[in-house]
Amino acid sequence: MSDRTSRQQPSDLDAFWLKEAERLDWMTKPSKAGNWSWAEDDLRIAWFEDGVLNASVQCLDRHVAAHPDRTAIIWEGDSPDVSERITYREAFEEVCRMANVLKARGVRKGDRVILYMPMVPEAAYAMLACARIGAVHSVVFGGFSPEALASRIEDCGATAIITADGGRRGGKTIPLKANVDKALEKASGIRLVLMVQVTDEKVAFEDGRDLWWHEARDDVTPDCPPEPMKAEDPLFILYTSGSTGKPKGVVHTTGGYMTYAAYTHEKVFRVEPEREVYWCTADVGWITGHSYIVYGPLANGCTTLMFEGVPSYPDAGRMWAVVEKHEVAVLYTAPTAVRALMRESDELVTKHDRSSLRLLGSVGEPINPEAWRWYHEVPGEGRCDIVDTWWQTETGGIMITPLPGDPMDKPAAATKPLPGIVPAILDADGKPIEGPGEGGLVITQSWPGQARTVWGDHERFVQTYFSTYKGAYFTGDGARRDEDGDYWITGRLDDVLNVSGHRMGTAEIESALITHKAAAEAAVVGYPHDVKGQGVHCYVILKEGYEPSDELALELKKTVREEIGPVATPDRVQLAPGLPKTRSGKIMRRILRKIAEGHPDQLGDTSTLAEPEIVDKLIEGAKGFK
Ligand code: WT7
Repeated sequence: MSDRTSRQQPSDLDAFWLKEAERLDWMTKPSKAGNWSWAEDDLRIAWFEDGVLNASVQCLDRHVAAHPDRTAIIWEGDSPDVSERITYREAFEEVCRMANVLKARGVRKGDRVILYMPMVPEAAYAMLACARIGAVHSVVFGGFSPEALASRIEDCGATAIITADGGRRGGKTIPLKANVDKALEKASGIRLVLMVQVTDEKVAFEDGRDLWWHEARDDVTPDCPPEPMKAEDPLFILYTSGSTGKPKGVVHTTGGYMTYAAYTHEKVFRVEPEREVYWCTADVGWITGHSYIVYGPLANGCTTLMFEGVPSYPDAGRMWAVVEKHEVAVLYTAPTAVRALMRESDELVTKHDRSSLRLLGSVGEPINPEAWRWYHEVPGEGRCDIVDTWWQTETGGIMITPLPGDPMDKPAAATKPLPGIVPAILDADGKPIEGPGEGGLVITQSWPGQARTVWGDHERFVQTYFSTYKGAYFTGDGARRDEDGDYWITGRLDDVLNVSGHRMGTAEIESALITHKAAAEAAVVGYPHDVKGQGVHCYVILKEGYEPSDELALELKKTVREEIGPVATPDRVQLAPGLPKTRSGKIMRRILRKIAEGHPDQLGDTSTLAEPEIVDKLIEGAKGFK
């Protein structure tokens, strides 16, 4: 019935990917594509192994040669009065300068550099400067706390940090440098803190360690030869949450990741580089910012818009004001933003000229059909296609998505995999479900953008992704396939939450809660939230001698902000007399979820509980929440 169903898959995957790798400028061309095994006892993933390249060359040098004056980055400030256009030549020179500053301060190939940056062009320069000298960057989102920053510094053994005095968001400032200073009271090994002046606020300065970018940049030349990197040399580490333990450092390498970022960006968004403006509203602290603000669009020579602020400032019409101001053709954003904006008057959208818009993208979490329709009809005037792109930090780029020109008759379906991607749906026994059905979503063949390992813990990588189903990469998501063979993502099957498109582990939040002196035990679950997609509901058991109070609940929320960051702030803290446990002591999360969801009538069998009477008290206690 639709074009979708006829989307062609290549018959020879290796030949297909080797051809796709030709979109890059290699110093030494690869002679072969994949070399991988997903056997649990011999797990290895490599792509284009004998190729040599530099990621920053893909994003800069070849465009400087061909079109130096094309705008690489349009920067839109937090304040609607401030914006800047940066050409490919200017970006190249700034990146080279920053690379030279890092080099002069002893940063070498293979060293890890933490980026803790606001959304300013220097964030992109910093990523590319690391890439240029072969240093491995790890961007930490500015919404993470000093505590979380410190644990990432330690985990990857970073020796340098690139940050700013502060960041601006929605008229407020975020004390980035002060957070770095706090983190460095805990974490050791940092020899350089390179600081971009953004907010002009007063910050502490440690001689010998700290360095102002605006001063250092004048001491170096705007040219820096690119370090030749093997395709499998790491390009970056990005921390992401799982169902257990601390966030893991997902490792992406150079040749495969760059091929995949460039390939998917072109295939899905079809930007005309010389004419169109492309805008992804993510933060560079997430994988979406890596692949679709920096590496993908710049590799393809596009004009990428970087927005410092938030969609609600100065008012909820800001996104459409930016679309109008910069004549944006492709807008790629998260459902949470769409849901927040659709609650406001449509006039905030329609008063802005959106005739430049051609394509709308959605990413990071399920989009509900209602939000999809509003996005399509109001901002998109019913004429812009929507690409609802499913992928993950670990996949490096988009995996399953509609493409422009596909029939838009299935709001919120992920539809079909991109050519080269081979998903399957498995039942509880690990058997593939052919035809219509629902189960665990896996990928059965490696692809170049796939994460290679977890930094410092390859065993965890094997366990997390390859032990649930033999010989397949398990995504952690469930999916359904319909009669047309189209995929629908049904949501996480593990204890990972998705709050406003931000991935969070329940175990992580639980560990944060019990650092509070009054907390004996905690259990965290998600519940449906109108705007955020999921909200965070915490059940906390107090230690003897502590009485439940609103103040204590607030303090516990604050503890999570301090331990993880504002991004993880709980929506609800329920001080509970106990948790529903089986006689063997296992917490029955299903019951906690149902109570938080407001469905105490659907608890099912509670007879196996050690103390069944706890359930009624929990239901009673949850009544106070909206
Ligand atoms: C998880 C990955 C995608 C990059 C940014 C988030 C959920 C992501 C969709 C979508 C339904 C989606 C999945 C996935 N997710 N995109 N279009 N529809 N769910 O990357 O932080 O690694 O999170 O986000 O559950 O596993 P991430």
